[in-house]
Order: sequence, then structure tokens, then C-alpha cells
Amino acid sequence: MVIFSTYLIIFFIKFVITFLRVKIELNLLRLLRYNLLIFFITFCGITSGQESNSPSDPLAGKKLFNANCAACHKLNKKAVGPALKGVTAKYEKEWLYSWIKNSSAMIKSGDAQALAIWEEYNKSVMNNFPQLSNQDIDNILAYTDYVPPPTVAAVSNAPIQTIQDNSLSNQLILVALILIFTILLTMLVLVNRTLKKIAFANGIVLVEEKKKKNITPIWQAFVKNQFLVFVSVIFLLLSSAYFGYGYLMQIGVDQGYMPVQPIHYSHKIHSGANQIDCNYCHSSARVSKHSGIPSLNVCMNCHVNIAEYNGEEDLENGYTKDFYTNEIKKLYAAVGWDDDNQRYTGQTEPVKWVRIHNLPDFAYFNHSQHVSVGKVDCQNCHGPVEEMEIMYQYSPLTMGWCIDCHRKSNLKLEDNEYYQKIHESLSKKYGVEKLTVAQMGGLECGKCHY
Ligand code: HEC
Ligand code: HEC
Ligand code: HEC
Ligand code: HEC
Ligand code: HEC
Ligand code: HEC
Repeated sequence: MVIFSTYLIIFFIKFVITFLRVKIELNLLRLLRYNLLIFFITFCGITSGQESNSPSDPLAGKKLFNANCAACHKLNKKAVGPALKGVTAKYEKEWLYSWIKNSSAMIKSGDAQALAIWEEYNKSVMNNFPQLSNQDIDNILAYTDYVPPPTVAAVSNAPIQTIQDNSLSNQLILVALILIFTILLTMLVLVNRTLKKIAFANGIVLVEEKKKKNITPIWQAFVKNQFLVFVSVIFLLLSSAYFGYGYLMQIGVDQGYMPVQPIHYSHKIHSGANQIDCNYCHSSARVSKHSGIPSLNVCMNCHVNIAEYNGEEDLENGYTKDFYTNEIKKLYAAVGWDDDNQRYTGQTEPVKWVRIHNLPDFAYFNHSQHVSVGKVDCQNCHGPVEEMEIMYQYSPLTMGWCIDCHRKSNLKLEDNEYYQKIHESLSKKYGVEKLTVAQMGGLECGKCHY
């Protein structure tokens, strides 16, 4: 489309120049200009007509609910805790705030309602959520109230509809543009014809450019010119060396590696839309060398209650609700969970996740050193994981990549007595305020190679 329009515009300008050269003033020219103006105005009008809408409160509440409450509560069915639909009718707002923030304190203080529900659920303990603000809780409650199952479909259908609307308006724009272009084109042809007629009437003879003859073919001229041959041979050699080197250097570098996993597990849905903390699943990243892949028991903490997918769909890529729900069924098959009877059958088949990140054996990398001591965010090395529908290797994991960051990063010394002394002496030695990892010895071969 862009190429087409630039082509047309160039065509138009060329045309105007010829126009001026022949020095014939015609009203047609003005007409054409108006046409172009109108075209631009409509174009700008159409493109600026597209807007995005901001999420409403129940949607924010849904995310919070999924991340914090879904492990124990369903909307319509008893789970570990009571069904939460319509819970606002049952209690005062203030009571709900303090219950959700600190239910154990309420039970201890002997609140009658708190004691009653606690007894009813065999004195099982609900988590405390002091981190939730009243606004957050309002959002969650808005979600539990506002969205009964039929409306769930309606709410989650909204984004699909906007997608369809968008594509519809895109199509409209396309049709309008094509129409305008055809009008422009026919006008140009018409003007051209009138011009020729006028020229003919004025007795101007149009001279066709004659083709020149008897030129030596280009390649012959090239072979005769030794300097040119010399320069191009050197150019060829250099570029093949460059590409050859590039090819050799990418051997063993799997940046962008994105294998198909046995269960379509989406980080975008879990960490993005539902904001589940990385450490919930990759808990060993903080304390050990490896970050590890969570066992399926961890999944079942939530998926005992989440049997079907009701979130946003991605129709362009074929990720429908049915597709996602089917993937959850795969998880059930793997752990041997019989959802109809709500019990484990005992028949399990391990899921074989395909490993994506893999350093060679001769290199040593430790997660806890980077995550806990260095306070480096996962995203620095693994990229925007919360946006990845399918996990892939974001960084090259080459030695140059490790070293580069060690040269640039400062040590995090706050509250770290271990570094106090060594930092004082080293920063004197280098005469700097803040030491980089490299100055601490992060470039020593032995630190990364056993
Ligand atoms: C670890 C499981 C667990 C989690 C997580 C949890 N709850 Fe509960 N919740 C319970 C249990 C169990 C009860 C029943 C009372 C009891 O035994 O303490 C309950 C009771 C409630 C009640 C009272 C319901 C009634 O009908 O009386 C509300 C409201 C509630 N939870 C809201 C929440 C919200 C909001 C969240 C998320 C921010 C949440 N809960 C997270 C287990 C949990
Ligand atoms: C609900 C559990 C869960 C959460 C939360 C989660 N992950 Fe994962 N992660 C997995 C599972 C399961 C896999 C293996 C399947 C795959 O590669 O998609 C995985 C794979 C990965 C891998 C690739 C491992 C390999 O094979 O090399 C990285 C990196 C990763 N996660 C980082 C993160 C980060 C960063 C976050 C937080 C933004 C996060 N994960 C949150 C479950 C989770
Ligand atoms: C903290 C709760 C939680 C944990 C733990 C969890 N999930 Fe989920 N999962 C969810 C929520 C919430 C959804 C979205 C449900 C919705 O939007 O209707 C979901 C959706 C899914 C889906 C459908 C969408 C997709 O990602 O393809 C699959 C499959 C899935 N989970 C698999 C897993 C697996 C495998 C694990 C363990 C590695 C896991 N889940 C752990 C909460 C969790
Ligand atoms: C300094 C860069 C860096 C940071 C920060 C980092 N990782 Fe990694 N991660 C790596 C490298 C390098 C590997 C490959 C390790 C190997 O093959 O031994 C890896 C591998 C993984 C794997 C695959 C399994 C494994 O342990 O080998 C998972 C899962 C993972 N990282 C998750 C996380 C999570 C979650 C965080 C944040 C809490 C995180 N990573 C922070 C660099 C990093
Ligand atoms: C995003 C930046 C970053 C990347 C990428 C990174 N590191 Fe680091 N690394 C750090 C930081 C910050 C520290 C300092 C941690 C501390 O305070 O001890 C560190 C420390 C280390 C140390 C300990 C150094 C010492 O002096 O004790 C080793 C070993 C190490 N990294 C290995 C690696 C390897 C291997 C890779 C590549 C696979 C890598 N790092 C990639 C930031 C990074
Ligand atoms: C910060 C960590 C780190 C330090 C320090 C480090 N290396 Fe490496 N080195 C790596 C990693 C990671 C790889 C694997 C790269 C890959 O797989 O592409 C590697 C690979 C290599 C290779 C194999 C060639 C290649 O690129 O795959 C050689 C040889 C090597 N290192 C030598 C050294 C020497 C010599 C030193 C000291 C001057 C050193 N390394 C210091 C992390 C480090």
C-alpha cells in the first residue's frame, strides 16, 4: 500500500513538472490538487478514528482474583473455601476488607460472623492479604458480583468484537483508498490525453527519445577495466569472510529457540494476564543454581479449581477457548485428575517439557547469585516473559553476553555485610564509588569455567 501510494505521488509530481514545463494553466491542475487534499483529509480522519479502550474494574478484579484467590475459591461452586458469588450481600464492606486483609486476626478477636464461617469450613485457614488495598478488594468484589456466567462470556467476548470491528474498519479504509486511487489514476490519464490534444492543437510536435545504439555491453567494459575487477574481487573476499565468520560464531547459539511443548503453557496468560509471580513456579531460582521447572502438583494447586479457560482468546493464531481448555485437559490427563468426580485416579504420565536454555557443561551459571545476591530481574536475561505466549530463548547466552553485563553492572552492596570490607579496599584500588562485577573478579576465567 505504501509503495503504491509513493509511486502514485511521484507519478503525480512528475506530471506537474511536465505540466509547468509546457506552461499551460489548466483548471484541471487545481482540481487535482483538491483531490489530493481531500484524499489526505479522509485518510487522516479514518486513521485517527481508531481508539483503544481501558479495562474496567471487574477486569482488574478478575486478574487479582485469578492470581490470589482462585486457588481456593470458585465463583459458583464450593471449593476449599465458599463460593464467592454474591458475597457482598452477605457481609458489610468494612467486614470484608478486614476479613480479606487479615482473616486470622478476626477469628482470634472472636468476631461472630468470622467464627461461624470458620467453623463451617472445619477451621481451615484462609491466607491473609495485607498487600491488597481497599481499591483492589473493591475490584475483586466487583468481579465476584458483576460477572455471572452468562455475562462472563459477554465480557470476554468484548475484545473479540473490537478485533472484528477493527478489521472491518480496516477493510473500509482499504476500499476507500482503492477507490480514491482509481479516481486519481483515471484523472491523470484523462489530463494526459487533454494535454496531448492541446499540444497537438498548438502545433507542438512531441519528440520520442531515440534509443542510442552501438554501446559496448557493460560486462565487456567491466572486464577491460582492471581496477574495477580488482576492487570487486577484494569486496567479494571480504564479504565472504564476514559472512563465514558470522556463520561460525552462531554455531551453538540458540537465541530465539522456541520448541513446541507437550502442553501449550502460556506465560502470557499466567504471568501477564493473571500476574502470577515467577517465584510461585520457579521457586528455586532464589536459592539454588538452577531455576527448575515446576512439578505438576504446583499446577494443580490452582487447576483443581480451574478446569476451563474463560479468558481472552487470540483468534488470529487459533488460540480459542476450546483450544486452551483442551490444554488444561492434557494437564489433568498427565496428573491423573478425574474432574467429574473430583479425585485423583492414580494413573499419571510425566510431561516431558523441552529444555530451552542450556549452557555447555564447561560453563558455570548460578541463578541465586544473580537473582538473590545481584538482584537482577529475570526479565534482564529472559526478556519480556509475561508477554510470551510460547516461551523462547531471548538472550544469546554467549560468553560475550555474560561478560558484557559484568562490565556494565554495579554490585548491589546495600545490606550486604559480606561485601563491605572487600568493597572498601577494591574501590580505593580502582578509585571508584561503585564497583562493577568485572572489578570484583567477574571476568576471571575460573569463575565461570571449572
Ligand atoms: C488458602 C485458601 C484460600 C485463599 C487463597 C483464599 N481464601 Fe477466602 N476462604 C478460604 C476458606 C477456607 C474460607 C472459609 C473460612 C475459613 O475457614 O477461614 C474462606 C472464606 C472467604 C470469605 C467469606 C465467604 C463467606 O461466604 O463467608 C471471603 C469473602 C473470602 N474468603 C475472600 C477471599 C478473597 C477475596 C481471596 C483472594 C484475595 C481469598 N478469599 C483467598 C480459603 C482461601
Ligand atoms: C504457573 C507456573 C509458572 C509461572 C508463574 C512462571 N513460569 Fe516459567 N515456566 C513454567 C513452565 C511449566 C515452563 C516449561 C514450559 C515452557 O517452557 O513453556 C516454564 C519455562 C520457563 C523458562 C524456560 C525454561 C527452559 O526450558 O529453559 C523460563 C526462562 C521461564 N519459565 C521464566 C519465567 C519467568 C521469568 C517468570 C515470571 C515472569 C515465569 N517463568 C513464571 C511455569 C511457570
Ligand atoms: C496460581 C494459579 C495457577 C497455577 C499455579 C497454574 N495455573 Fe494454569 N491457569 C491459571 C489461570 C488463572 C488460568 C486462566 C484461566 C482463565 O482465564 O479462565 C490458567 C490457564 C491455564 C491453561 C490454559 C491457557 C494456557 O496457558 O494455555 C493451561 C494449559 C494451564 N493453565 C496449565 C498450567 C500448568 C501446566 C501449570 C503448572 C506448570 C499451571 N497451569 C499452573 C492459574 C494457574
Ligand atoms: C543473569 C541472567 C539470568 C537471570 C537474572 C535469570 N536467569 Fe534464568 N537462566 C539464565 C541462564 C544463563 C540459564 C541457562 C542455565 C544453564 O543452562 O545452566 C537460565 C535458565 C533458566 C531456566 C531453565 C532451567 C534451569 O534452571 O536451567 C529457568 C526456568 C529460568 N532460567 C528461570 C528464571 C527465573 C524465574 C528467573 C528470575 C527469578 C531467572 N531465570 C533469572 C540466566 C538468567
Ligand atoms: C544482566 C546482567 C548479567 C548477566 C547477563 C550475567 N551476569 Fe553474572 N553477575 C551479574 C551480577 C550483577 C553479579 C554480581 C552478583 C553479586 O553481587 O555477587 C554477577 C556475578 C556472577 C558471578 C560471580 C562473580 C564473582 O566475582 O563472584 C558468576 C560466576 C557469574 N556472574 C556468571 C555468569 C555467567 C556464566 C553468565 C552468562 C551465562 C552471567 N553471569 C551473565 C550480572 C550478570
Ligand atoms: C562471566 C562468565 C565467563 C567468564 C568470566 C569467562 N567465560 Fe568463557 N565462556 C562463558 C560461557 C557462558 C561460554 C559458553 C558460550 C557459548 O556456549 O556460546 C564460554 C565459552 C568459552 C570458550 C569456548 C568458545 C565459545 O565461545 O564457545 C572458551 C575457549 C572460553 N570460554 C574461554 C574463556 C577464557 C580463557 C576466559 C578468561 C579470560 C573466560 N572464558 C572467561 C562464560 C565465561
